[in-house]
Amino acid sequence: MWGLSMQKNLGIMGRVISCLTLVLLALDGNNRRNKKMSDEKKEKTAEKTTTGLSRRSFITGTVAGLVVGAAATYGATTLTGPTAPAKPAGVEPVSGKTINLKINGKPLSTWVNARWTLLELIRDTVGLVGTPEACYYGECGACTVLVSGKPMLACEIFAIETNGWDIATIEGLAKGDKLHPIQESFIKNTAFQCGVCAPGFIMSAKALLDKKSSPTEDEVREAVSGNLCRCGTYNVVTRAIMNVGK
Ligand code: FES
Ligand code: FES
Repeated sequence: MWGLSMQKNLGIMGRVISCLTLVLLALDGNNRRNKKMSDEKKEKTAEKTTTGLSRRSFITGTVAGLVVGAAATYGATTLTGPTAPAKPAGVEPVSGKTINLKINGKPLSTWVNARWTLLELIRDTVGLVGTPEACYYGECGACTVLVSGKPMLACEIFAIETNGWDIATIEGLAKGDKLHPIQESFIKNTAFQCGVCAPGFIMSAKALLDKKSSPTEDEVREAVSGNLCRCGTYNVVTRAIMNVGK
């Protein structure tokens, strides 16, 4: 009799302890969740306040090419570059020459060092830094610009070769504060992660869509096959290009 009652009491105590354990575990879980949410909130606030920009607005600016360099040259009817450097007596002259070309429809007359690439001319001399300098070895396509409508890699071309060329960069797509439909579509479809590859993809897409306004998926993938994205956004990039204007 005494044994049965003891057994019953122990059973009840066991159930009470189990219940208490579950309550404590639940409370601990809640505390952890609350702490995690509070940490995430702090991180988001820090992300905004340290730069004054959210990640999304920064990357959207990259896609749009609306960066400092573009703002500095927007509205100018001509672009400027350096004149030939002076040649001190007895010193081997720097090899280079003056070239005349057009960038985004604006004439540019500039002296260029024979060793400069077109990418260096665009970014460092003219200040159009929307064309990224990524691999610098002709591997990634991030520096794609259009030469008479044809996509080419600016890091693979010597600036001195470009006399008489007509070049379009990402900054030339928007009209004032109105983005090009391709840029709009990239933003609408969130076709980027870090955004480094986006200007190159957009310029390749423009070359394709200028020739064919409704390409097939295979044609889109072929047109951007020289553009690499280490963040793996290929599917959304393809969708963004196919959805331009929709
Ligand atoms: S920076 Fe020109 S191809 Fe990568
Ligand atoms: S979005 Fe990061 S490399 Fe393409």
